[in-house]
Amino acid sequence: MASASCVSLLVLVAMASAASAQLSPTFYATSCPDALATISRVVTAAVRSEPRMGASLVRLHFHDCFVDGCDGSVLLADTGSFVGEQGAAPNAGSIRGMNVIDNVKTQVEALCKQTVSCADILAVAARDSVFALGGPFWTVPLGRRDSTTASKTNVENDLPPPSSDLQGLTDKFSNKGLSVTDMVALSGAHTIGQSQCKNFRDRIYNDTNIDTAFATSLKANCPQATGSSDSSLAPLDRTSPNAFDNAYYTNLLSQKGLLHSDQVLFNGGGTDNTVRSFASNPATFGSAFATAMVNMGNISPKTGTQGQIRLSCSKVNA
Ligand code: HEM
Repeated sequence: MASASCVSLLVLVAMASAASAQLSPTFYATSCPDALATISRVVTAAVRSEPRMGASLVRLHFHDCFVDGCDGSVLLADTGSFVGEQGAAPNAGSIRGMNVIDNVKTQVEALCKQTVSCADILAVAARDSVFALGGPFWTVPLGRRDSTTASKTNVENDLPPPSSDLQGLTDKFSNKGLSVTDMVALSGAHTIGQSQCKNFRDRIYNDTNIDTAFATSLKANCPQATGSSDSSLAPLDRTSPNAFDNAYYTNLLSQKGLLHSDQVLFNGGGTDNTVRSFASNPATFGSAFATAMVNMGNISPKTGTQGQIRLSCSKVNA
């Protein structure tokens, strides 16, 4: 009798952990049925009023997921006793959109108290941003919970720098369980948004796999000497900076990738054919991007009783 109930307890525990390891698109269907429509409304309005915000929100989800999984850790602000991720080199003076996420969270909290996580809001906001800019739509698995910690060091170790070569990028993505195809597809997010001069300066002055006229035109606002121009902006895709299309890849074919880490994807290596395929077929890119975003969104989610549902995305619950 005792051993039989032990076995059924074990079965229950096994079932519970299997269930909690699995995100589900219908996670809020009964607990907060209007959550997704609310996120979409706020995000779409923000992107309409400033298209770049769509890019910033997509990037925020990436920077969340690559650092200790998709757990909203990137949103935690520093406090007197807490050092968060926002001051880490890849994020400082660079990530944007936390105010839009706060705005979404306020509206969602008014509907359903402490039910929808900040990590899920980031995942849905990224999807809605891509769609608002003309890109693909996909179903977002949900049920992530929010972290109670953050790691500045892990931001610096786990996010690839723009100076990365192909092997460096491949390693950083494979460390997160993502394939080379996912990596090439996700890099296509650079079809929207902007970069600061300090992140492409080395490329336009030193790389040889760059279109000469393209490099020259960028030098005007990004002089070689470091200084006040460090933060001056250029679009990652000059052809159509606010459209989520496949122009990122056609740019790579003509050596007009803005970042060093962009052009390495088409530089005589093993990813050339994938770039060619995404450049010649927008639908192939769209579906590969959607698949890769779901894969990225599945990186080490906190589920079940792990973590918490934050009341405010920028701070751990009191
Ligand atoms: C492959 C490795 C990657 C590297 C080295 C990289 C690096 C960068 C850098 C340096 C910037 C410019 C930041 C600034 O100057 O402030 C940037 C912007 C951006 N990145 Fe990436 N990134 C990578 C992958 C990704 C992925 C996987 C996504 C999303 C799926 C993404 C989405 C974006 C977007 C949308 C922007 C523009 C943001 C804005 O305008 O606010 N990136 N990235």
